[in-house]
Amino acid sequence: MTYARILGTGSFLPEHVVTNADLASQVNTSDEWIVSRTGIRERRIARAGETTCDLAERAARQALDAAGCVASDIDLVIVATTTPDRVFPGTACLLQERLGIHGPAAFDVQAVCTGFVYALAIAEKFIRTGSTKRALVVGAETMSRIVDWNDRSTCVLFGDGAGAVVLGAGDAPGILSSHLHADGAYKELLTVAATEPLQGAATGHITMRGNEVFRMAVTTLDALVGETLAANDLRQTDIRWLVPHQANIRIIAATAKRLGMAMDQVIVTVDRHGNTSAASIPLAFDVGVRDGRIQRGDVVLMEAFGGGLTWGSVLLRY
Ligand code: ACO
Repeated sequence: MTYARILGTGSFLPEHVVTNADLASQVNTSDEWIVSRTGIRERRIARAGETTCDLAERAARQALDAAGCVASDIDLVIVATTTPDRVFPGTACLLQERLGIHGPAAFDVQAVCTGFVYALAIAEKFIRTGSTKRALVVGAETMSRIVDWNDRSTCVLFGDGAGAVVLGAGDAPGILSSHLHADGAYKELLTVAATEPLQGAATGHITMRGNEVFRMAVTTLDALVGETLAANDLRQTDIRWLVPHQANIRIIAATAKRLGMAMDQVIVTVDRHGNTSAASIPLAFDVGVRDGRIQRGDVVLMEAFGGGLTWGSVLLRY
């Protein structure tokens, strides 16, 4: 039996830090409002001309190094992004070219904040069937390009960044299970409308019915966690680390409570990164690995919720 396991991780954040105080000088908000409602204190914003692929490349190179791989070892590239450099080719193709990988399959996954979970689940299935030996899976976003910087209800929430993993074939798991869901009936809760004519990625701005998204996130993630535990015949105490999508500390805390986990078993980056959409889980995972909290053999639950609506989880042994 072939399994998929994470061989190495990497991440990258743009240099420019935007604090809540910076935003309060632009729109009618305050550090107190943002921290108490979301847990966010600052976020990174890409400089002019710095694209999603630029961030992805930095994270990918770090993940390749950590995995002890060279680019030619990679036989599948998947980039999860909502903010691609171009309508086409996919950012995965642009990244492949930057890394000097020629020939293997490369494609993007668009599942908004759940994108990385979708991408990891897809890569795992390629590896399980034997068609892929080493996959590069990246979540990368420049959400700042689709944020309306005059809309205080959304502009305080998002940030830019990238995270990556190299997934390799092995004799033992690895990824234990993945659970992917979507329901397009909720498409209007969280959306970016394309403008006419379609002019590339940054065609419109994020609109969100925040309260409804919040309520849906808490109830949906509650059910998702139950589904993931049941599928693996696990108890809550078998999970060592929760690596959630970093949208809002109150949603994260509700999921941790559902799992009976203390907050020191949760990798939290939302305070420093904001919501980086598809990049948030691989960024948080890399932070936890590099600071030594997540150790080889630990059971880790990743879960995400986002536009679509989409939601999903991956349970893995690191
Ligand atoms: N500063 C100050 N006041 C604000 C701000 C702000 N930045 N934004 C909104 N307000 C005001 C509103 O205008 C409203 O004022 P009113 O009562 O006078 O009308 C008041 O604050 C309360 O607004 P709510 O929207 O009800 O605030 P809520 O407590 O719901 O918090 C938030 C808003 C943080 C957006 C929350 O609803 C949330 O986190 N939702 C989920 C977001 C999420 O998880 N998205 C997931 C995926 S993202 C993706 O897929 C791309």
